[in-house]
Amino acid sequence: MAQIFDRSSNALARMGLVLTGLIVIALGVTLDQLQRSPWVTRQGQRAEQPVPFSHRHHVQGLGLQCQYCHTTVEKSSYAGIPPTRTCMNCHAQIWTNAALLEPVRQSWATGESIPWVKVHDLPDFVYFSHEIHVNKGIGCASCHGRVDKMPLMYAQNTLQMEWCLDCHRDPAKNLRPTSEIYNMAWESPTEDHPVWCAASDGKAGMPTAQSVNCTTRRPGPAGSAMASLELPASGANDLLSNVGAVVPVAAPAFQKFTSQQDLGKFLVVHYKIRAPKDLASCEVCHR
Ligand code: HEC
Ligand code: HEC
Ligand code: HEC
Ligand code: HEC
Ligand code: HEC
Repeated sequence: MAQIFDRSSNALARMGLVLTGLIVIALGVTLDQLQRSPWVTRQGQRAEQPVPFSHRHHVQGLGLQCQYCHTTVEKSSYAGIPPTRTCMNCHAQIWTNAALLEPVRQSWATGESIPWVKVHDLPDFVYFSHEIHVNKGIGCASCHGRVDKMPLMYAQNTLQMEWCLDCHRDPAKNLRPTSEIYNMAWESPTEDHPVWCAASDGKAGMPTAQSVNCTTRRPGPAGSAMASLELPASGANDLLSNVGAVVPVAAPAFQKFTSQQDLGKFLVVHYKIRAPKDLASCEVCHR
């Protein structure tokens, strides 16, 4: 062999190998990027809908609540898309001649549902449920973004496994009081905008989600139904340095939170959120 292939052709062959390796890697990276690109995940794309329904107009403009149309979001895995009847509650009277609404009137007349195009669509081998998320303090906006500002619906997030896992590995950073689930403008507590929460765990028959009562207004003075740890009168100021911890007190007492981290830790305990390693295990989503 040595007579036919000299040293330089050996080097060439080696270079060829290296090059092939590089090309394979580059191809892999490109395919991976492509798989994650908005072109595949449809992240951020506005679907062509039969009716140009505007969440901005109906939610922000008219002040309609999400549950008015997505009626099953708290009690089932599906949030649900409203039937034509829901639209006709208003559009039997408003904009009755608008061409834009022709498919709505047609659907009403024929009884056939409006063929909405799905914007979010997980593969069938993934288990997902709205019920548990919204009842454990994850707001619509944490997953769907500022829907109230969307003239046409689009997917704010990829819905890829890594995205789900990013939260499951540390849910505390996204937890909010369940009373704020629908609040599109909710922001994590800060020094300037604290949140006060009181927990009444252990009351018989009380659902987990309702065991915590939170407010963005400074709660009333001690002696009213809810005593506040915040007030000097209660003599509990030293506990404030310890807001992350659970304070066992008889009556529900409000604790003040000035960071998402502390509020998150508190809610993890009271909403009974599983440990990250359990929440990120394969069986949770692949059953
Ligand atoms: C007046 C009725 C109405 C209200 C109120 C409403 N929606 Fe919708 N929503 C719809 C309709 C109709 C669709 C399907 C058409 C579309 O995708 O735009 C939809 C679609 C969606 C989708 C995408 C569904 C998919 O295909 O993946 C999300 C997410 C959503 N809504 C969230 C919300 C949130 C969050 C709120 C409250 C801030 C809300 N909606 C309020 C009627 C409503
Ligand atoms: C609570 C009453 C109400 C309900 C329920 C309602 N709409 Fe509307 N809709 C309105 C009003 C008011 C307007 C705005 C007319 C205007 O521009 O002043 C409007 C406007 C529209 C428009 C025109 C484009 C735009 O958004 O400005 C479309 C399309 C539309 N609605 C579709 C729907 C569909 C589809 C449903 C059912 C999923 C629905 N609406 C449910 C009150 C309602
Ligand atoms: C933890 C993330 C998460 C939260 C929180 C969440 N959603 Fe969803 N939503 C999803 C995913 C994922 C899908 C796609 C489900 C599928 O394809 O099976 C979806 C789908 C939808 C759909 C399409 C119809 C359906 O049921 O599949 C609507 C409407 C919707 N969400 C509305 C809401 C509303 C309203 C809220 C707040 C009350 C909310 N979502 C909270 C992740 C979330
Ligand atoms: C923003 C945070 C967040 C995101 C994003 C999120 N989850 Fe969750 N998920 C939670 C929390 C919090 C729980 C409740 C955990 C508990 O009660 O122990 C949960 C619970 C679940 C459960 C358990 C249901 C049960 O009954 O045991 C499943 C399944 C699940 N999530 C699937 C998904 C999938 C699939 C995605 C991505 C499409 C996703 N989640 C995205 C926060 C999130
Ligand atoms: C929090 C929910 C969640 C958990 C936990 C989870 N997955 Fe997934 N997985 C998903 C979602 C969502 C998809 C779909 C991704 C897509 O459509 O791009 C997926 C897709 C997959 C796929 C298909 C290939 C791909 O990447 O799209 C495989 C294989 C997979 N998961 C394996 C696992 C294994 C193994 C574990 C445990 C180490 C696991 N998953 C844990 C949510 C989860």
